[in-house]
Amino acid sequence: MSDDSPENRHVTRRGIPTAADWDLAYREGLPPWEMGCPSPELVAFLDKGLLQKASVLELGCGTGADAVFMAQRRLDVTAVDFAPTAIERARTRAQRAGVNVCFVLDDVFHFAYRTQTFDFIYDCAFYQYIRQWELSRLLDLLWRVTKPGSYYLCITYLGGESLVGIPPVSEDSIRWELGRLFEILELKQFNFYSALRRHDVSGLSVLMQRPLAKGTAH
Ligand SMILES: C[S@@+](CC[C@H](N)C(=O)[O-])C[C@H]1O[C@@H](n2cnc3c(N)ncnc32)[C@H](O)[C@@H]1O
Repeated sequence: MSDDSPENRHVTRRGIPTAADWDLAYREGLPPWEMGCPSPELVAFLDKGLLQKASVLELGCGTGADAVFMAQRRLDVTAVDFAPTAIERARTRAQRAGVNVCFVLDDVFHFAYRTQTFDFIYDCAFYQYIRQWELSRLLDLLWRVTKPGSYYLCITYLGGESLVGIPPVSEDSIRWELGRLFEILELKQFNFYSALRRHDVSGLSVLMQRPLAKGTAH
């Protein structure tokens, strides 16, 4: 978040961006991280069929394209974001799609103290952003909302310029930071064409699982 250009101003205030900063990005129009479709990496993961009627928590869900897609795949989805405009758009999206998603307008760190554990945690560009300020808080949150065997799919984007100065994360950093809690099952680069953005998007997709307690069968 070092680029102070006008395009980036809503997320480059001194210190950590507030809910109001993020909300402004949504109110100003289409934020640069929004791809307008479910992440192909999420689609590929759900196609593996590892989750049946599972509970999902999405961190920093934005306008809800991924959350709605997961609900369409019959998962029990809770999706949290603290930007009111994003949540309002996400609720409209779910209504139009005719699916039920529990969209929660809250700071996800507060929410984590009053919720259950989930079978699957999903985030697209949330870890990538929050790690710069609150990595240890995020690790604490991830511990709280998972149980042994829970999956975590984390999507990060490469090419920070097109993503409003959220710096890309290296494979080594991901292994060092998230590998403390999770077994990394798959870490790979992806590319897809975003029709909404009209360009190719690339990033790293990391599928993880919280280790099962010793002696527990898969
Ligand atoms: C880079 S955007 C990604 C949004 C969405 N996942 C997507 O890919 O379109 C990060 C999102 O996290 C939300 N966010 C940031 N910090 C948060 C917090 N502490 N609690 C809840 N939401 C937060 C922002 O409002 C924003 O919608």
